Amino acid sequence: MKVAISGKGGSGKTTVSGTFARLVGRAGHPVLAIDADPNPNLALTLGLTRETFESIVPLPHGLMDHKRVNGEVVVSLSRPVEEVDAKFGIDCPDRVRLLLLGSPTGAGTG
Ligand SMILES: Nc1ncnc2c1ncn2[C@@H]1O[C@H](COP(=O)(O)OP(=O)(O)OP(=O)(O)O)[C@@H](O)[C@H]1O
Ligand SMILES: [Mg+2]
Repeated sequence: MKVAISGKGGSGKTTVSGTFARLVGRAGHPVLAIDADPNPNLALTLGLTRETFESIVPLPHGLMDHKRVNGEVVVSLSRPVEEVDAKFGIDCPDRVRLLLLGSPTGAGTG
């Protein structure tokens, strides 16, 4: 199951995403949570300490391919997700693993 959560700023996306991920993990399913927010804080909702959060290495930009499909930019991993998770995934409480995509290197065309 793949779930994407987006919406208005400050409407509770991170809180809902983190809580949902932890509930699914507690139910016994492995969860890979991906924080694609350029200003990420999902780690804290997932129960990591601020110290651990600040030590997380985001994915290198080279691991992400950007393609334009029907006028939209589609970002995908250039390596299998299992490999990326094994290298960069962070163990969180409740069987959740976290991947941090990191910030864009610069402004694109809007
Ligand atoms: N159901 C709720 N009831 C009360 N407060 C909430 C609820 N959901 C979220 N909040 C609070 O609202 C604030 C914003 O929530 P959150 O960070 O999850 O929103 P967001 O949509 O991810 O924001 P952003 O767009 O800045 O990433 C937080 O301080 C959070 O504690
Ligand atoms: Mg958020």
